[in-house]
Amino acid sequence: MAANDNREGLKREAARRALDFVEPGMRLGLGTGTTARHFVDLLGEKVAAGLKVRCVATSEATFAQAKGLGIPITTLDDMPELDLTVDGADEVDPELRLIKGGGGALLREKIVAAASRRMAVIVDEAKVVARLGAFPLPIEVVPFGLVSTRRHIEAAFASLGLAGATNLRGGAKPFVTDGGHYIVDCGLGAIPDPERLAATLSTIPGVVEHGLFIGYARAAFVARSGAVETLGRL
Ligand code: 5RP
Repeated sequence: MAANDNREGLKREAARRALDFVEPGMRLGLGTGTTARHFVDLLGEKVAAGLKVRCVATSEATFAQAKGLGIPITTLDDMPELDLTVDGADEVDPELRLIKGGGGALLREKIVAAASRRMAVIVDEAKVVARLGAFPLPIEVVPFGLVSTRRHIEAAFASLGLAGATNLRGGAKPFVTDGGHYIVDCGLGAIPDPERLAATLSTIPGVVEHGLFIGYARAAFVARSGAVETLGRL
């Protein structure tokens, strides 16, 4: 089997495990990305077979996917409290701290996670790390004043003893998020104190949100060949 097929298979197994925790009548948050896509596909099969749930999406892409599959989907304003959100991640550390935003949906993902009583993360084993930071940290910024905001971000890194390149996603044709913002990807290599970095980034005007998700995930379903391991407890 090609490595890519195998990885997609692992993502689907992680998604399948999360589905075991979905109960009739639940209000669900649906994540974004290739792993979350598997979850939405599998949920669509259950809904077609009669499962009753109501959902909110973390991106326009997931909204369209869910709608296409006949999954009842509404807005977070219509349904501001959720029972469970299932989403992917770019990195998961042993304390279930996450880097998210590789797919560009981190702002809505964090808002939806914050509206949920529980969040489950679905990943393949390659996403599990001892320390966050090898994956470039996505930071969502307002286009206005980009150069200035980026300097503040770099100064914040320096003040914390962190170094690394900051790259505007998309370069000359910047990637635009569902919220109309840009993303700066920050290759830090390692983030020794994610809480401190998160708190520092949150003080910068022009930073809409950062991809450090701390205190959101209750459990991570990690697919390895042959088994899905659970970190934490949902
Ligand atoms: C999107 C995200 C995704 O959940 C994250 O990038 C993982 O994506 P994938 O499952 O495709 O690897 O945070 O903003």
